[in-house]
Amino acid sequence: MNLVVLLLGSLCFLSSQAHAAPIRIGLSMDTLKEERWQRDRDLIVAKAKALGAEVLVQAANGNDALQNSQAENLLTQGVDVLIVVPHNGVTAASIVASAHKAGKKVIAYDRLIQNADVDLYVSFDNLEIGRLQGEYIAKRVKGNVIWIGGAPTDPNAKMLRDGQMQALKPAIDRGDIKLVTEQWARDWQASEALKHTENALIANNNNIVAVLAPNDGTAAGVIAALKQQKLDGKVLVTGQDADLPACQRIAQGSQTMTIYKSIPALAQAVVEAAIELASGKEVKQANRKVPNGKKDVTSVLLSPTAVDKDNMRQTIVKDGFHKASDIYK
Ligand code: BGC
Repeated sequence: MNLVVLLLGSLCFLSSQAHAAPIRIGLSMDTLKEERWQRDRDLIVAKAKALGAEVLVQAANGNDALQNSQAENLLTQGVDVLIVVPHNGVTAASIVASAHKAGKKVIAYDRLIQNADVDLYVSFDNLEIGRLQGEYIAKRVKGNVIWIGGAPTDPNAKMLRDGQMQALKPAIDRGDIKLVTEQWARDWQASEALKHTENALIANNNNIVAVLAPNDGTAAGVIAALKQQKLDGKVLVTGQDADLPACQRIAQGSQTMTIYKSIPALAQAVVEAAIELASGKEVKQANRKVPNGKKDVTSVLLSPTAVDKDNMRQTIVKDGFHKASDIYK
């Protein structure tokens, strides 16, 4: 009898091992404000499902304390690994500490968490994005340029600036380009970019050849300010994200360029890496090390592409990122 019970017990144990519970991924997001973040969320959930994993999502509306408590909550719910898009690259370090206390690994997604023992960073090369934006301006115009930065709380904003300055420095040194205003846009808000552009236009009697806007959301604010002065389409405006309104503006001429980042590729990379980390495996796609003040973080960095009206069809449309019928209305 005892032997039968023992046998049955072992059989149950074996079968429970064979049907191990699916890996659960916690996704802690800063915001869903920009179009891209909704895409990131939807794709991460879908790709995880396709690989047999589950995703629990929380978004913090730009509130640091809320993001930290949401991440704690995900850990309490027993997720196997955390993917974090930090609102604040500095205060999010405590999320890493909590996760490690619970024995879980943390992936910083798109934005690197600073001064923390982050297990992996998955993003586009932000220095390269900055360089592409700076180069685009340096190659095409001479004169006064308005510089607008992203959120000062977002480490990407600083990486972008470093890349932009590398590309612009020779033209600035030659005197071909003058940065007449340098202002950061709190929380990447379009209204901040609008205000900074209005002020700079007034201060320079509208004598501006380009505005370096860090992303498409802020570019929308910049273009609204240019429009008030009938300067839209006459001043070069950069961007980033290839969101649909920006692609429409490029087609119609009020925005000059954007940076296309394939979110499907990024989401695929992060889900594969999350499953590898949760299963105690090496991350196959790791291709770089990026310093975060504490260590050189193992990273998967993808390459961005500069897009303007000349190559939109061969990039964004060809990849199916947006449909031509939606862009060229
Ligand atoms: C991202 C951009 C985004 C911005 C505002 C940055 O960290 O890299 O793609 O536009 O945040 O959300």
